[in-house]
Amino acid sequence: MNETSQAQAQAKQEHHNLVIEIRIHDEAYYQNDAPRVSDAKYDAMRKRLLALEAQFPILATHDSPSKNVGAKASGKFGKITHSVPMLSLDNAFDSSDVRDFSARVRRFLRMGEDEALPFTAEPKIDGLSASIRYANGVLVSAATRGDGRIGEDITANISTLENVPHTLVGENWPEVIEVRGEVYIDDVDFATMNAQQEHAGKEPYKNPRNAAAGSLRQIDASVTASRPLKFFAYAWGEVSAPLSDTQMGAVDNLKAWGFSTNDLMQICDTASELIAHYKSIEAKRSTLGYDIDGVVYKVNDLALQERLGFVSRAPRWAIAHKFPAEKATTIIEDIDVQVGRTGALTPVARLKPVMVGGVVVSNATLHNEDEIKRLDVRVGDTVEIQRAGDVIPQVLRVVDVKKAERPPAFSLPNTCPICGAEAVRDVDDKGNMDVVRRCTNGLQCPAQAIESFRHFVSRRAYDIDGMGAKQIEAFYQKGLVLAPAHIFTLEARNCDIKLETWDGWGARSAANLFAAINARRHIDFHRFLYGFGIRHVGHGNANLIAKHYLSFDNFLQVMTADNQDAARADLLSIDGIGEAGATALLAFFHAPQNMAVIDELLDQVSVIDAKVPDANSPVTSKTVVFTGKLEIMSRDEAKAKAQSLGAKVSGSVSGKTDYLVAGPGAGSKLKKAEALGVKVLSETEWLALID
Ligand code: IVH
Repeated sequence: MNETSQAQAQAKQEHHNLVIEIRIHDEAYYQNDAPRVSDAKYDAMRKRLLALEAQFPILATHDSPSKNVGAKASGKFGKITHSVPMLSLDNAFDSSDVRDFSARVRRFLRMGEDEALPFTAEPKIDGLSASIRYANGVLVSAATRGDGRIGEDITANISTLENVPHTLVGENWPEVIEVRGEVYIDDVDFATMNAQQEHAGKEPYKNPRNAAAGSLRQIDASVTASRPLKFFAYAWGEVSAPLSDTQMGAVDNLKAWGFSTNDLMQICDTASELIAHYKSIEAKRSTLGYDIDGVVYKVNDLALQERLGFVSRAPRWAIAHKFPAEKATTIIEDIDVQVGRTGALTPVARLKPVMVGGVVVSNATLHNEDEIKRLDVRVGDTVEIQRAGDVIPQVLRVVDVKKAERPPAFSLPNTCPICGAEAVRDVDDKGNMDVVRRCTNGLQCPAQAIESFRHFVSRRAYDIDGMGAKQIEAFYQKGLVLAPAHIFTLEARNCDIKLETWDGWGARSAANLFAAINARRHIDFHRFLYGFGIRHVGHGNANLIAKHYLSFDNFLQVMTADNQDAARADLLSIDGIGEAGATALLAFFHAPQNMAVIDELLDQVSVIDAKVPDANSPVTSKTVVFTGKLEIMSRDEAKAKAQSLGAKVSGSVSGKTDYLVAGPGAGSKLKKAEALGVKVLSETEWLALID
């Protein structure tokens, strides 16, 4: 035996022993929650395994524990920050939404009706999106969408998909390219997979999408490898060089570089052509062999896409035209009342289970008491329900009244079914009654408190892994978490709590939870604000506020100042914040009990200032007002451009305004700016400034 083959034989033996040992520890940890070695020892074993595999790649077999992603300390997937956020899409539900979309794009770009504006139209695949990164043509990492900014590391899982190239083929691919698309399971494979599930006495998957999700998110990538996952490429993230001038050209390139793309993608020159293509795809839907839930339209010209940019989480240059919701009829067996985070009492119809679009539905929302009255729906009625995507199923109408004697009309109670406090419908200044009845007990109501904590730890707020509905309820019921700050003191109290001894917990899972909590002690301003669950302050508005005030201290000072009118005006000057949001924010920051919650929380966490989008631009942090007719850009494009350069766009002129950009026809705002000594620019001067 020569030296090399001797070294290889030794490595093989050592590798074999390590694999067995790591498997034993994995089982002890994952299955029995009873680790046998320290994390450090375990990590050292995995490190050695990887070193051996790097030296002798032949040892890196499919079933090596090295193929388990993130399987070490946390038993979860590692995280990957997307260098370019993964966006979602706005929806269109009918032809008029599609025409509006096309008109909106034209308006934004200041395009005339006669100017050509081609779009692409392609099926919207009902799967899970993934982003796959290639460096020098080699697959180096892959991630799920996650919250759009941070996804889970599924490199090993994605590497097992047959139609995902490990190395790019063809030529002229950029040095760095993130290919994005949808992971899915086709209909035939789904049927086979479910037959196997049932054969093995396991619960069948509800639909191909769920089966794909379950198959992709496997810590053990060899399980993923045994599942029939496929990938359609339709978009991209970071690229070191442009892919093409057009969407179609870029997708053609993706195909040339080894990806499966969708053959039904087509160029359409008008909204009518888009709608015609939608209809032709809808007609083929049942014969495609994979699930789709609509048609996606994208502006074909990539330079125009760039100008259009995005709002919140969705591009202005694309829209998903959804297929109509699927319907079914069933019987209402009962009506329950649920209490939500804001105290809203929501009537929920308990249904005789029925299949709708491949999923069994047994609950549907009845929204509120006005809706119940409008539908005149009662227990025992046969109703038509509809389910659209992930939206909660709804009751559309009563189709048949079964019994001659119907029970009396259902009415919501005047007291909260959970805590017994009064439940009322608010009346606004104008005497209009709110459609929603709410429990008046605030966080004293267990349902509101638990829902608020759920919101607090949810993905877009603190995003604490391992803190699900069940865990929150248990902590609340035991009196251990009664305010947000208490989540952060759990670990310090654990010598009394002994979480590791609770049913369903172990040393490792308790340690993981504490680690997940500690990881959030530094929290982004927008997440911190969104976490409070203030009405009308969703994650979009929280983001706008964070970008406007930059630091929470700064924001708090404005909110709690004596002059509430000034604070309101300041909030309203933020493009996107309306009266309802401003009122809710002021009310929240003027309630002493909320300030106590905030103070207590700030003892535990520190708030990270929002980032100025482009700290180097000449208009960073400047407040700009646009008025009059703009002649080069549309008002929307001008605003979007200013915001992307870090400027704040306001609707009104005040002493804080840095620039008024005035076009022809400017009136009172121009006069006010002149009176206040605000710098006034023409549109051309503004463009020269930001160029
Ligand atoms: S484009 C910036 N094209 O739909 C545009 N998305 O509802 C990114 N999806 O998150 C998306 N088929 O997971 C695009 N042909 C298609 C698609 C598609 C399915 C998914 C994607 C996205 C979601 C938005």
